[in-house]
Amino acid sequence: MRKSTFLSILLSSAFMASPAYAQHQFDINTTKVGAPIPSTMYGIFFEDINYAADGGLYAELIKNRSFEFPDHYAGWTISGKVSIKDDGPFDRNPHYVRLAPSGHREKHTMIENEGFFGIGLKENADYRFSVWARVPDGGTAKLWIDLVDNASMTNDQKICNAGLDVAGKEWKKYTVVLKSKRTFDKAHIRIWGDAKVTTDLEHISLFPVDTYKGHENGMRKDLAESLEQLHPGVFRFPGGCIVEGTDLATRYQWKNTVGPVENRPLNENRWHYTFTHRYYPEYFQSYGLGFYEYFQLAEEIGAEPLPVLNVGMSCQYQNDIKNEAHVHVPLDQLQPYIDDCIDLIDFANGDPATNKWAKLRADMGHPEPFNLKYLGVGNEQWDYKDNPAFTKRLKLFVDAIRKVHPEIKLIGSTGPDSEGENFDRLQPLMKQLGCDLYDEHFYRNEEWFLKSGNRYDNYDRSKKAPKVFAGEYACHGKGKKWNHFNASLMEAAFMTDLERNADIVEMATYAPLFAHVEGWQWRPDAIWFDNLRKFNSCSYYVQQLYTLNKGTNVLPLTMNGKPVAGNDGQDGLFASAVLDKQANEVVIKVINTGDAPQDVTLNLKGMKKGTREATLISFHSDDLDAENTLDNPTKIVPQTSTLTVNAPSQQVTVPARTFYIYRIKK
Ligand code: AHR
Repeated sequence: MRKSTFLSILLSSAFMASPAYAQHQFDINTTKVGAPIPSTMYGIFFEDINYAADGGLYAELIKNRSFEFPDHYAGWTISGKVSIKDDGPFDRNPHYVRLAPSGHREKHTMIENEGFFGIGLKENADYRFSVWARVPDGGTAKLWIDLVDNASMTNDQKICNAGLDVAGKEWKKYTVVLKSKRTFDKAHIRIWGDAKVTTDLEHISLFPVDTYKGHENGMRKDLAESLEQLHPGVFRFPGGCIVEGTDLATRYQWKNTVGPVENRPLNENRWHYTFTHRYYPEYFQSYGLGFYEYFQLAEEIGAEPLPVLNVGMSCQYQNDIKNEAHVHVPLDQLQPYIDDCIDLIDFANGDPATNKWAKLRADMGHPEPFNLKYLGVGNEQWDYKDNPAFTKRLKLFVDAIRKVHPEIKLIGSTGPDSEGENFDRLQPLMKQLGCDLYDEHFYRNEEWFLKSGNRYDNYDRSKKAPKVFAGEYACHGKGKKWNHFNASLMEAAFMTDLERNADIVEMATYAPLFAHVEGWQWRPDAIWFDNLRKFNSCSYYVQQLYTLNKGTNVLPLTMNGKPVAGNDGQDGLFASAVLDKQANEVVIKVINTGDAPQDVTLNLKGMKKGTREATLISFHSDDLDAENTLDNPTKIVPQTSTLTVNAPSQQVTVPARTFYIYRIKK
């Protein structure tokens, strides 16, 4: 966050002596310490959509590295004598490529990979190339690895290169590090060899050496750092609709995503064909970023892991219930799906000495448990009037998991809608089934967000009622379904409701998380990137403002005895307050969603008379349609300043369309 002169101008208007507008009295009772803010309150939702995993967070730079795409040469161009074989060393990825002498001295056998929209290279950075290889006829072969710029006007397209000696008939892993001589976002990798001997290659891989936390099978550092800097309390993975699959065969199966990376079978990614207007035929899931990596990342960014598994149903949007037996798993055949849940808990938390899934975790490098506490069962599922298709399955899961793992909090679903028939039917059923939380989704327009400031005030607070997990939400502007400042302001306003109701809202995750500017299917998203750059959206900053200022306990904040939630007579104001016990500060969030500045008196009840230091964080853009960009990633960022506040009461002016946070020393 940076200070700016712009802020001083805002600030001088923030303390005008005679208010020009109605004076709003905010009563903040600083001694009535309310519900604790759950550590999981604000988190992240990850799904491999928009090239979020392969081509995004997962730092692998080669597309179709195992030649398993339906078109085995997808992503590759070939010349000379190249063929695909299918008796390779990895049974679940059996294909590999054979480079043979072309039969002519001048015809070079070569293969070249285009990466994901090109390969991003940074000057002086190191890239680890690795390959499984053999010389099937015995002897040795020389391989050349070139990183190239095909559009170069210089004599040589090479940016950098390295040689590799392959020896013997046995498959072995070979590695060499290349240092890029320049920065280029659209490089290709060219591999060619000894014209005299046949060479077989499998699992051809290229990673930046400098990944997040230095893992070889690691994450793109800048993108993972955006996650770390968000300070999420919970990390939901792996989606979203890909959990369900367009059909059961293509659902996400976590057991396929663990163990040696070379032998994780490829799966389709439904987002390659879901939208005919955003078609990405070469979008697959390599599962290089699999469940071990998700757990590890959650741990490294300090978030609780929250996996969501399939409930024995494929995507209901894409499958007609009339074919129930065909598209969903019959009730008497659900056991393998239930086992997937139980085995996952063991994979995450079990003892490697007694459990095979826990042993696999240990073998992969993490003998200590991952401390899994939450499990989602089913994504956007629903019941039909005459057929409880979802809940009859969910019940079997809940009963079976509870028996062996009563310590795990189970998350059911209220379907894809924030209200309406499905929601109304499912919400009480989640309580009846004994779910600990219900997952709610709402991608809605400005009007919905402005009207929903009291959503959770009247929720079921009885002992057995599930807590709220707002598992996917974002403001999709009316006619403006893309990232822009005003949408983020709507989210900020709505989030005061989450905060005020922290006694029943346990977690909330904005969605989706990532989007490649050349490969997106869905927007808005929190973080955008290309092959070398990224920008955090305004929505990202709103999330970050909440995580960094979540405090420890709710404090009552009312106007005329009512919550400030954009209601009639409240002039588009939303507000909430928390106590930060550690910092000994009262934290007040005020969002003015209207077009006029609003004068507010902060009545700090219970605070000792006198002046004290405070911090004001402001998030504002004059242009409501503006957003950060790759070229200008910090165009709209929160700005911080210090000020003096009077207790017990201080007048302030909140400018139009602005999110203010006051941190006042108690
Ligand atoms: O976030 C994108 C999609 O929106 C998710 O996959 C799905 O759960 C929801 O419909």
